[in-house]
Amino acid sequence: MREQLNKIRERAEAQLASLENMQELEDLRVQMLGKKGEITSILKQMGSLSAEERPKMGQLANEVRQNIEQLIKEKGQLLKQAEQQARLNAETLDVTLPGEAHAIGHKHPLSIVLDEVKDIFIGMGFQIATGPEVEWDYYNFEALNLPPDHPARDTQDTFYITEKMLLRTQTSPVQIRVMEKQAPPIRIIAPGRVYRSDAVDATHSPYFHQIEGLVVDEGITMGDLKGNLMQFAKRLYGDNTQLRFRPHHFPFTEPSCEVDVTCFKCGGKGCPMCKGEGWVEILGGGMVHPKVLQNGGVDAEKYSGYAFGIGLERLTMFRFNIDDMRLLFENDIRFLDQF
Ligand code: DAH
Repeated sequence: MREQLNKIRERAEAQLASLENMQELEDLRVQMLGKKGEITSILKQMGSLSAEERPKMGQLANEVRQNIEQLIKEKGQLLKQAEQQARLNAETLDVTLPGEAHAIGHKHPLSIVLDEVKDIFIGMGFQIATGPEVEWDYYNFEALNLPPDHPARDTQDTFYITEKMLLRTQTSPVQIRVMEKQAPPIRIIAPGRVYRSDAVDATHSPYFHQIEGLVVDEGITMGDLKGNLMQFAKRLYGDNTQLRFRPHHFPFTEPSCEVDVTCFKCGGKGCPMCKGEGWVEILGGGMVHPKVLQNGGVDAEKYSGYAFGIGLERLTMFRFNIDDMRLLFENDIRFLDQF
């Protein structure tokens, strides 16, 4: 029995030296010390020993058991340390590695310019108004002094949803919607998308953007229109910018004008950008027609107003020297990355 015990101890030591993980260690513990383990089965044989031998063997068996227990405990600690070390090695974080660059988007050129325009007008006391892109014929045409047979409708053919409902061709209908809701004084700009059944080319698109302006108050004159637009142009294109007002016709303003700015590329000398003119057209405007004021529920005897409509694409193309409008809508990253 003594020999058996010593063998068990030797075997335990040899196995301990070669095992590599906690599971193997646990298996060994069960095999040696468990209820059906080798030491236990030896202890069960004690009954067959003489009364003299029994205590001696009992002591030896206990020693061997304690010995093995101790060895298992020590091995356990070693294994735990090794496992922790392995985990630390695997989880090493090298803070000096170069970071992963994430491409961050930025504003579209149209949005860049629109935000500047908004800032300028907000700085002059204007508020931002909006209206629907699917609009009634009434707001888009009739209330703006364009009855069903008016020839000016021809230049603004659009997409009809029903006979009376269409995709708006201009942001001017927002004028009527604002006047219906709000009594003077009114000072708004209304940016938004508009639609026309135009074929796509370098200067035309079936959808584009306008920025409508409307000011209604007592005693508003053409002088206010000129002064405010002058201020706007200088803020957007620089202090040396000049404006030129040309007589024009719009059904919803009287008198009406088209407004040019000095070409910011050549400063007015004439270049390919302004086709040698020295001027580029950026907006239409005028004094709000009394009928239009009345259609908006405003007393045209008491109040007067001015209005204008700016083309955002033109503004943006001049601003960034873009020669083809299609580039603004194709969403080619190689183009958009340049702004
Ligand atoms: N709505 C006009 C257009 O699309 C632009 C315009 C001209 C707007 C004169 C106005 C204005 O408010 O007074 O051509």
